[in-house]
Amino acid sequence: MEATFGKSFSILSHPAWPDYHGGVMSKRSLTVALIAALTLPVSLMAQAPSLTIQVNHPRAKVSPTLYGLMTEEINHSYDGGLYAELVSDRAIRSGFGALFHWDMVARGNSEVNISVDNATGPSAVLSRSLKVSVKAATEAAPAGVENDGWWGIPVKPGNIYTGSFWAKTDSPGVPVTISLENDHTGQVAAATTVTALTSQWKEYRYKLTTGNNVPFSSNNHLILTIPRPATVWFDLVSLFPPTYDAQVHGNRIDLMDMLAAMHPKFLRFPGGNYLEGRTIAQRFNWEKTIGPWIERPGHESPWGYWSSDGMGLLEFLEWCQDLHMQPILAVYAGYSLDRQHINPGPGLEPYVKSALDEIQYVTGSTSTKWGAMRAKDGHPAPFPLHYVEIGNEDQFDPSGSYNGRFAQFYHAIKQAYPDLQVIATTPVTSVTPDVIDEHFYMSAEEAFKMAHHFDHASRSGPKIFVGEWATREGDPTPNLQAALADAAWLTGIERNSDLVIMASYAPLFVNVNPGAAQWVPDLIGYNALTCYGSPSYWVQVMFARHLGTEIVPASLASAGPRVFESVTSDPARHKLFIKIVNATSLPKPLTITLDGVAKISPHATLITLSGKTPNATNSITHPRTIVPVYRALTLAGPKFERTFVPYSVNVLEVTY
Ligand code: AHR
Repeated sequence: MEATFGKSFSILSHPAWPDYHGGVMSKRSLTVALIAALTLPVSLMAQAPSLTIQVNHPRAKVSPTLYGLMTEEINHSYDGGLYAELVSDRAIRSGFGALFHWDMVARGNSEVNISVDNATGPSAVLSRSLKVSVKAATEAAPAGVENDGWWGIPVKPGNIYTGSFWAKTDSPGVPVTISLENDHTGQVAAATTVTALTSQWKEYRYKLTTGNNVPFSSNNHLILTIPRPATVWFDLVSLFPPTYDAQVHGNRIDLMDMLAAMHPKFLRFPGGNYLEGRTIAQRFNWEKTIGPWIERPGHESPWGYWSSDGMGLLEFLEWCQDLHMQPILAVYAGYSLDRQHINPGPGLEPYVKSALDEIQYVTGSTSTKWGAMRAKDGHPAPFPLHYVEIGNEDQFDPSGSYNGRFAQFYHAIKQAYPDLQVIATTPVTSVTPDVIDEHFYMSAEEAFKMAHHFDHASRSGPKIFVGEWATREGDPTPNLQAALADAAWLTGIERNSDLVIMASYAPLFVNVNPGAAQWVPDLIGYNALTCYGSPSYWVQVMFARHLGTEIVPASLASAGPRVFESVTSDPARHKLFIKIVNATSLPKPLTITLDGVAKISPHATLITLSGKTPNATNSITHPRTIVPVYRALTLAGPKFERTFVPYSVNVLEVTY
C-alpha cells in the first residue's frame, strides 16, 4: 500500500549517488554478467566461500550513537498507541456538533441526551464540553455516557487504573459513578463514585481497581453515570493503566519494553511530516504541547486524525530519559506539507525565536524563562541536547527557500548554543551543516543493492544521519524478505558508521486495527491489549545489542550474490561481532579466518533469525513465528567453518 498522505517515493534522491537508478538489471547487463561468470578461470570458480577478518587492524570507530529511534504521530503511534491514555477523544473538540467515541447510556427507564456544548469548557483553549442532560434516572436505573477507547479498552485482572475528569453541573452535589464494563457480558470490572460535583469547572480524580477474576480482554468501555435528573458537563475524561516506570500520564509498559530491547541511543522527534503539519497552522507548535492538559488545545495531524498532544514536548523528553536516549530535537523550519513556506528574513524570525525558546525549554537552567517553565511543568533538571534538526525533508520545498531558511536557523542556534550540532534535512550551499539527514525508503531489491551505497562515499563532507529508512515490504509490518534486506542495508551502515553516525527506522509503530494505519510497513505492531515485533524489529535488536566499538575490515570472497557482512570488535571486552546475512534460498558455508589473533575462546554464541520462506512474518495473532534463536557454539580456533541457513540473519559473537 502506498502512503495515503504525505510523500510517496522509494529512495529519496541525493547528489552523492547520481549513478544509482535502482530497479533490476537490464537484459544487456545481465548477459554481460553471465558471460563474465561463465568465463571465470576454473581456479576462481572452485574457490570455497570465505570471510577473512583483520581483527587487529580496526578501520575506524563505530559511532557511539549509531542506532536510535524516529517517532511521530502516525498510525496512532501515541493516541491509541504508546501514550497509555485509554479514553479516546478525551478533549471534546468537535466543531460540527458531532461526538466521536462517546455514546449515551440509559439504563431501564432513564432518559438522557448528550451533545457538544460549544459555549462552555474548562479553559480558554478547551472551550467546548460534553453536555450530559439527564431527564430521568434513579440509583437503580442511572443514565450517562460511555467511551469505547482506542479500539477497545484493555482490562487486566488485579490492576489499578488512575483516572480524572473535569466537570461542572447545574445540580450541585450530584455524584458520578465511573465503571469499566465488558462489552459482551456487561460484567463490571471495577467501579467507583465521585461525589458532590459543583457548579464550577473543577478536576476530579479517581481510581479503579480490577479484581483478580476479571477476564483479560480489550472488549470493555468506560461508563460515567448519574443517578438523578441533572445536567453535567464533562471534559478531559481520562483513564490510565499502570505505566512504564510508574510515570504519571506515561507510556505503555509493553511497548517501552520493546523499545528498551532495541538499545536505542537517541530519539528523533517529533517527526517527520508531523513536525511540518499539512499547513503552517497545523505544525507541531511545541508551546501548545506543554503544561497542564487544559492548556493544550491539541491539533490536526498531517496523517488525518486529531492529536491530543498528551505526548507533548516534555513527554518526548521524559521518554528519552526513561530509555537513556539522547534527544535529536527537530524544530519547525518554516515549511509545511501543502507547500506553504516562510521566506528567509524578518518573516522567519518568530520561528527562529520559537526554536531558540524550545532549546531553552529543553536545556536551560531554572533561572531562564523557559527552563523555569519546564520546572513548573514538573522537570527542574535540564535535559542533555547535542543535536538539533532544522525541519524535515526540505528537498520537497519547491520554492528553494531552505538554503536561506537553514542558514538563518543555523547562525542563530550556533550563536546562542555554539556546542550544538545542527542537522540539515537536505544539502545546502549557504553554510556547511554539521550533519545531513538522508531518508531511504526502499524495495527489498533496492535495499540489497544499497548495502554498499556508503562504502565509497566521500568522507570530506558533513556526517550523515539516516533519520528515516525502511524496506517497504509487508503489511502492516515487514516480512522476512524485508528483514533480510534491512539487515543487508544495516551491514552497510555499520561498515560505514564513521560517516553514518546515526540511523533510525521509520515508521516505528502501527496500531493494527482496521483503519488505524496510514503507512505500511511499520516496525512494531499492537492493539489495545498486546504487541509484537516484526522480523525487521528483531534485526534491529540483534544489530544494536551486538555491536562493537571498532569497525573491523573483512573481505567476503566467492560467497555469491545476496550475502552480506559487517564485523565490529570491542577490544576492551575482547569481543568480535560477525554479522552475516544469507538472503539466498541455499545454505551458505563460509570459511571464516580471524587474522591477527593467536587464539580464541572455544565458546561462541550464534544468534540466528530465519524462516522457511521470504514471505514468512509475525502478526498480532502469530507474534513469534520469526524470532532470534540463540545457540552456543564450540570453535576450534581462529579459522573455522560455519554454514549459514537459508534466509537468515546471523550474529556470531566470538571472544578473542
Ligand atoms: O515515515 C513516514 C513519512 O515519510 C515521514 O513522516 C516523512 O518524513 C517521510 O516522508
